[in-house]
Amino acid sequence: MYALVVSETGIDGGRAWHVPVLMREVLATLSPRPGETVLDCTAGLGGHAARLGEAVGASGTVVVNDMDPAQAAAARARCEQIPNGPRVVMLAGNFVDAPRRLAEAGLSAGVVLADLGFASNQMSDPSRGLSFQGDAPLDMRLDPTLPASAADLVQSLPEAELAEIIRDFGEERRWRQVARKLVQERGASPIRTTARLAALVRAAVGPEAPGGSRIDPATRTFQALRIAVNDELGSLRSLLESVGRSASARRSGGGVTGGGGSWLAPGARVGIISFHSLEDRLVKHAFGELVDRGLAEHVTRKPLVATEGEVSENPRARSAKLRAIRLAD
Ligand SMILES: C[S@@+](CC[C@H](N)C(=O)[O-])C[C@H]1O[C@@H](n2cnc3c(N)ncnc32)[C@H](O)[C@@H]1O
Repeated sequence: MYALVVSETGIDGGRAWHVPVLMREVLATLSPRPGETVLDCTAGLGGHAARLGEAVGASGTVVVNDMDPAQAAAARARCEQIPNGPRVVMLAGNFVDAPRRLAEAGLSAGVVLADLGFASNQMSDPSRGLSFQGDAPLDMRLDPTLPASAADLVQSLPEAELAEIIRDFGEERRWRQVARKLVQERGASPIRTTARLAALVRAAVGPEAPGGSRIDPATRTFQALRIAVNDELGSLRSLLESVGRSASARRSGGGVTGGGGSWLAPGARVGIISFHSLEDRLVKHAFGELVDRGLAEHVTRKPLVATEGEVSENPRARSAKLRAIRLAD
């Protein structure tokens, strides 16, 4: 397994690496051309960025962005190793700010990719507190400078707000019971570790009904807290709005301000890989609206998903969905 991963990334620092999902589909739908500028909003360890960078070549530019500065640096290093490769620009920050920063740098992207969520190396890094396998501080921040960790939210939010997060972002059917249990237990002693949180959630959810889901009952609450800590849906909404503003500004021939008109080139292809229905719904709706308004066309009418072969080599690809549009010229 690791031999495959290492050959895919080309580097191995002894950590678990991240295998990029839907690589063939990303290249086919975003069709990067020599000389273009690529913006990888979520560059991670640079797997997608490097392949897109190879395609745009020495006359092109790859902008690698990640809210986790260590990931952004790894992606930059990876792209800089491409033989006869593109110019590489690194932006470390939330992709919410990438359109403005791109425009300020005088760049407009012909290809934009956002491969949402977290990478395998972040999940397996105990200091992140993203996983309920093992025990670690309950952190979950992808950007270490964010003000509140998952432990802070669990400790301080009113029960009703905690319950809403667990219901809306985790789609947990027993959201009331989970929130109540966490609030009861945090009164006795603060919930500061992943193992304690997982044990409390499992106790609150109880055994699944026969024939029910076989995933660990802690999965949904962990997802919910990760989404809340990193404002994942708010960030995605903002990125989609920036795409929409740029597309409208092109048609009206104006609006070349940050986050507005200039950051996307005419005919830009925008692809988003999502991993759960909350994200996919937002992407589907935003892309559909641009197509309905005549500002873009679908490159993928239905989302592309991984082949059985890819899923068997990389189980993480199982829930990945790629949607892509092409903006009008
Ligand atoms: C699935 S990984 C991307 C992997 C990458 N495509 C590769 O080939 O290595 C998602 C990455 O997005 C980053 N991320 C998640 N939300 C972000 C946001 N709102 N802004 C910037 N980066 C984000 C995470 O830190 C993580 O490194």
